[in-house]
Amino acid sequence: MHVLIINGSPRIKAHSNTDKILEKFTKGMTSKAATFKQYEISDRKQWDDIRKAFDESSEILIAIPLYVECIPGLLIEFLETLTPKKGDARISFILQGGFAEGIQLRCGEEYLKILSENLGCTYGGTLVKGDNFSIRFFEGEQRDKITSRYEEMGCEYAVNGNFHSEKCRKFTGPEILSAPVRLFVGLLQKTLAKKMFARIAEGWGCTKPLDYRPYQ
Ligand SMILES: Cc1cc2nc3c(=O)[nH]c(=O)nc-3n(C[C@H](O)[C@H](O)[C@H](O)COP(=O)(O)O)c2cc1C
Repeated sequence: MHVLIINGSPRIKAHSNTDKILEKFTKGMTSKAATFKQYEISDRKQWDDIRKAFDESSEILIAIPLYVECIPGLLIEFLETLTPKKGDARISFILQGGFAEGIQLRCGEEYLKILSENLGCTYGGTLVKGDNFSIRFFEGEQRDKITSRYEEMGCEYAVNGNFHSEKCRKFTGPEILSAPVRLFVGLLQKTLAKKMFARIAEGWGCTKPLDYRPYQ
């Protein structure tokens, strides 16, 4: 199986969590003899090549980060330039986000079913998972801990050609976190996470507090 992979993040490849996820996912894919060519939506210079590859491919995978509960605007802008396919191409999706609960990605998942139809493709399913905010903050083993889960899903996709299996469905994790966990996460956000984000912002050259409101 040869797959056209499109990273739908507006972030450049070097800073994209989706790219790091795809790194592991494709490692799994290739271990099962699948091949692929990856493109980045963030690089407008690639758009003509992606359109051409879309027209010529029968197996397509778009990996998408959730941006404000939805599909990134830059990806939508690109998708609107595609000519729907005629024939029997299949399209599948990786939909990932920062927050942990699966439920907040379900609206986007429903949209992707409609999108498949609008693009003239058979729907190969969506691999849904949150809890990916921190990928870009870590490197090495710490990053691997989060992204390596996708390697097995890459194997699964290469073998089945879709994300319809029970294994892929379970990969999402909890739809809604339990009340005690929600309380704990809330507390964490107000204390340790707040400090951690401030430290990261400082490292990126931010000189004002994160809740600075100059126009208030
Ligand atoms: C502007 C913006 C909006 C976001 N909105 C959501 C959201 O609604 N839900 C969510 O779970 N994550 C949200 N995130 C987090 C991203 O989905 C998450 O960090 C993802 O891994 C980013 O992938 P990327 O680096 O490849 O773009 C948002 C991130 C940004 C920058």
